[in-house]
Amino acid sequence: MSKIAVVGAGFVGETVAITLVKNESVDEVVLLDIIEDMPAGKGLDMKESTPISNSDIKIWGSNDYADMEGSDIVVVTAGIPRKPGMDRMDLLKTNINICKAVVGNIVKFSPNAMIIYVANPVDVLTYAAKELSGFETHKVFGMAGILDTARYRAFISMEANVSVKDIRAMVLGGHGDSMVPLPRYTSIGGVPLSEFLSQDKIDSIVQRTRKGGGEIVALLKTGSAYYAPGMAVAEMVEAIIKDQKRVLPVVAYLEDKYGFSDVYAGAPVVLGRNGVEKVLEISLNEEELNAYTTSISHVKTGIEEIRGLLT
Ligand code: NAI
Ligand code: 2OP
Repeated sequence: MSKIAVVGAGFVGETVAITLVKNESVDEVVLLDIIEDMPAGKGLDMKESTPISNSDIKIWGSNDYADMEGSDIVVVTAGIPRKPGMDRMDLLKTNINICKAVVGNIVKFSPNAMIIYVANPVDVLTYAAKELSGFETHKVFGMAGILDTARYRAFISMEANVSVKDIRAMVLGGHGDSMVPLPRYTSIGGVPLSEFLSQDKIDSIVQRTRKGGGEIVALLKTGSAYYAPGMAVAEMVEAIIKDQKRVLPVVAYLEDKYGFSDVYAGAPVVLGRNGVEKVLEISLNEEELNAYTTSISHVKTGIEEIRGLLT
């Protein structure tokens, strides 16, 4: 039996849940939120969709944190999203308080669970969740890189006019505008990206990827992306529950990796039954490592901002 709790039944949380329901990836999903009755309503609506999607999953919602008891994974999407003009770091003051409340309840009701953090700024809050929970680092990680890589792959497919299915790629770093898409590690059907697109085109795709979250915020105006983010989280959940040993970019704890220590940021990992089973260290050239270092320094600034609150 696999049980997943999704804390925060807003746009991202509900997309995680409905994706898990449609894919019948797990046995049970419980949606939790502080808005009265809302998660119960969304849970019931999703249950009523199961005869159509042909899914026998147990899906329900609640306002009681105690209902996360026995979860294998707790996904945390609880937190405010960006509005136009905001940086992800602008969310920190509000979302760190939500993080403290949520993680306290995870420790109380689901002390053996893994935590997949999603709310922003995700790298900093994943660090906070690790400190506040005291859980082992392979069991506390975050979602960002799958989303960033999906955006990068989507833009490549649009420019090169090829199927997304054949595009393999990797995006490293903190989930901010200094993230590091890696064209050198990008291929289409096993053929290097540079055989399909000019350097100018690749550079513009890299820039669009870095600002991909902001592009959606500017269009939506009242919040941020949720379809691709929710599906990215569901992919991580499935990799863990089915012990798939997927190689995916995840917000992982870096200790003596790439020259960084005691920080969370996007890195390629092996994701399986034990969570982050291995952080992979791929070889980076000077330019890539410098970009990674800049991105990590932004995460470290955020961590220092909240360190005093992590007790
Ligand atoms: P939303 O506003 O639709 O949903 C957030 C939900 O959290 C609300 O329903 C709210 O009532 C709930 N909530 C607030 N405090 C809570 C608490 N203490 N316990 C339980 N629930 C609580 O926002 P949306 O669009 O779902 O985004 C959620 C977060 O995810 C934002 O911080 C956003 O920036 C982040 N995000 C991160 C991504 C990533 O790649 N890591 C991608 C997309 C969004
Ligand atoms: C995004 O990149 C909001 O961080 C989220 O869309």
